[in-house]
Amino acid sequence: MPILVTGGTGYIGSHTCVELLNNNHSVVIVDNLVNSNKEVVDRIEEITGKRPIFYEVDATDGEKMEEIFAEHDFDGVIHFAGLKAVGESIEKPLAYYKNNLLSTMVLMENCLKYKVNRFVFSSSATVYGDNEVPFVETMDLLPTINPYGETKVICERILTDLAKVNPDISISLLRYFNPIGAHKSGIIGELPQGIPNNLMPYITQVAKGKREKLRIFGNDYATADGTGVRDYLHVVDLAEGHVVALHKATPGVQIYNLGTGKGTSVLELVHAFEEATGVEIPYEIAERRPGDLAECYADATKIKKELGWVASRTLVDMCRDAWRFERNLE
Ligand code: NAD
Ligand code: UD1
Repeated sequence: MPILVTGGTGYIGSHTCVELLNNNHSVVIVDNLVNSNKEVVDRIEEITGKRPIFYEVDATDGEKMEEIFAEHDFDGVIHFAGLKAVGESIEKPLAYYKNNLLSTMVLMENCLKYKVNRFVFSSSATVYGDNEVPFVETMDLLPTINPYGETKVICERILTDLAKVNPDISISLLRYFNPIGAHKSGIIGELPQGIPNNLMPYITQVAKGKREKLRIFGNDYATADGTGVRDYLHVVDLAEGHVVALHKATPGVQIYNLGTGKGTSVLELVHAFEEATGVEIPYEIAERRPGDLAECYADATKIKKELGWVASRTLVDMCRDAWRFERNLE
C-alpha cells in the first residue's frame, strides 16, 4: 500500500521519498511545483531504481485530492507541502495561512473519509518561540512572531483536536531543527529560489563564487562566539526519521523533536565547511536579522528513547554533501 507524500519533490520530501522507496514502500507524490521541479522525480528514480507516481496537484484542491485518495489505497500520509519563507509570510500572511492550513485540513478530511490512519506532519522548532534551550516537547508553545510559525502552531492544534475524537488515527508531529546537506549522490538537495534565506545554501553559493561573501547576522549574541547557535542535522537523517515515525506510529498524537541535540554557531559552521571542503568562505559581520533567536537546539532524547532514532551524520558529512550538490548544479 502506497504512502502519499505531499511536497515530495521539495528538499526534505525528495530525500524522504528515497528512504521510503529504499524501505520497499511505494510512493505517490503530490506537489504543485511552487518551490521545486518535476525533474526531481527522475532523480529519485535514478537513486532508488523505483519511480514514484507523481501528481502535479495543489494539496489545497479538495476535489483533485479526493480523486487521488479514491484511486489509491494509502497506508499513510506524510505532509511536507507548505510555504516556508519566514520573510515572505510576513508580506503575504493570507497566502501562508491559506496554503498551509487548508492543505492540512483537506488531507485530514480525506484521511478520515478513506480511513488512512497514519499521518506525519512537518512541524518546526519555530513553534517553541523564545523558550529556554534546549527545547523539550513538553514545553508550552510560545508566539512565533511570524505567520509561517503560526501556521505550524495552528496545524499542530488542528491535528491534536482531530486525534482526540478519532481514536484510531496516529498523528506524528515532527518538529525539525535545521536540516542541511544533501543525498550522497549529489543529485537531490536544497534548491532555493533567488537569494537564499538560510545559512547553508548561502555558504555553498559563496563557495561556488555565485555570491561574493557571507553576511553573518550579528556577533553580539550571548553565545560562546557571539554568533547565532542552531541545531543542524543531515537531511538524510531527517528523512530516515520519517520512515521510523511512520513504522512505529501508534494511535494518538506523538510529538518529536528531530535534531542532534547539539548547538553549532554560525562561525563554527563556516569553519567546519572550510575544513570539510578546503574552500574558504569570505564573510563580514552584519546587523542582527529581525526575528532571529540567539540559540535554538533540541533536547533529542525522547525520539531516541521511544523510537530508537538518532541523527548520526556529522557536521563534516553535512558540509561535504551540501557542497557536492552545489557543485553539480549548472
Ligand atoms: P520545500 O519548499 O523544498 O518543499 C515543499 C514542497 O511543497 C515544494 O516542493 C512545494 O512545491 C510544495 N508545495 C507547497 N505548497 C503546496 C501545495 N499547496 N500543494 C502541493 N505542493 C505544495 O521545503 P522543505 O524544506 O522540503 O520543507 C518541507 C516541510 O518542512 C515544509 O512544510 C516546511 O515548512 C517544513 N520545515 C522545513 C524546515 C527546513 O529547514 N527546511 C524546517 C522546519 C520545517
Ligand atoms: C529560519 C527561519 C525558521 C525556519 C528555518 C528553516 C527566520 C527568522 N527563521 O531559521 O523559522 O524554520 O529557517 O527554514 O528566518 N545566518 C547568517 N547569514 C545568512 C543566513 C543565516 O548569519 O545569510 C544565520 C542566522 O542569523 C542564524 C543561522 O545563520 O543564526 C541559521 O539561519 P537559517 O539557516 O536562516 O535558519 P534559522 O534562523 O534557524
